[in-house]
Amino acid sequence: MIPWVLLACALPCAADPLLAAFTRRDSQKGAPQLVCSLPGPQGPPGPPGAPGPSGTVGRMGFPGKDGQDGQDGDRGDSGEEGPPGRTGNRGKQGPKGKAGAIGLAGPRGPKGVSGTPGKHGTPGKKGPKGKKGEPGLPGPCSCGSGRPKSAFSVAVTKSYPRERLPIKFDKILMNEGGHYNSSSGKFICGVPGIYYFTYDITLANKHLAIGLVHNGQYRIRTFDANTGNHDVASGSTILALKQGDEVWLQIFYSEQNGLFYDPYWTDSLFTGFLIYADQDNPNEL
Ligand SMILES: *[C@@H]1O[C@H](CO)[C@@H](O)[C@H](O)[C@H]1NC(C)=O
Repeated sequence: MIPWVLLACALPCAADPLLAAFTRRDSQKGAPQLVCSLPGPQGPPGPPGAPGPSGTVGRMGFPGKDGQDGQDGDRGDSGEEGPPGRTGNRGKQGPKGKAGAIGLAGPRGPKGVSGTPGKHGTPGKKGPKGKKGEPGLPGPCSCGSGRPKSAFSVAVTKSYPRERLPIKFDKILMNEGGHYNSSSGKFICGVPGIYYFTYDITLANKHLAIGLVHNGQYRIRTFDANTGNHDVASGSTILALKQGDEVWLQIFYSEQNGLFYDPYWTDSLFTGFLIYADQDNPNEL
């Protein structure tokens, strides 16, 4: 109980450091010796301690200043030749040279275009009449528009025409030159020459006696007997005609006018044409 009392009395002057020493001593020796006093004066310094271990290498210092320039070295050997440089820009055109001497004459050029013909001279005096020449060769065939034309082919549109009168073929298939007159039933020659005439006449129910008339005279006659059926009678001839000659067909015997017309079955035709004219071009003569 007493140590604790002493401690209590020292407390105001020893304060916390003393308490700390006390507790330390107590924990080390287990026999506490508590003295309630102030620290003494500082003792003399102890002998120097053993040298410490070497320190680490310090940081590198700043680089020093540049020294003075050395003297120039000896000239080196010349290097290998480099590749050629790029072509430079075109230079300015030089001044015009002096004219050269005149050259030799060139080869002869081609012939030029003919000039315009000159004016006609005045006609000379008429010469003497020459001798008659030999006859020339025959000329070419007169064909085309200048050639005389005459041709017709006509048909009937009625049956049983009257006897001994021109039969009127009033259906015109062809009338080149207009020389066949369907109103009169006559062909009237407009181009003198040689003509061919032919007819093909259908007959039925009656016999047919028909003839071709030239200027009122029968030139050919044909007869076809009716045998109870249709039939075709035909005739043809060649005639030499003069200007204005008349040619036609007519029944030359009573009651033998069996010419038959049927628009859906039969035609009866009268045809004639110029084979060749007496003159090549009668209109010009
Ligand atoms: C055709 O014949 C008829 C009767 O004969 C006649 O009147 C007419 O003038 C003739 N036509 C021609 C173009 O000749």
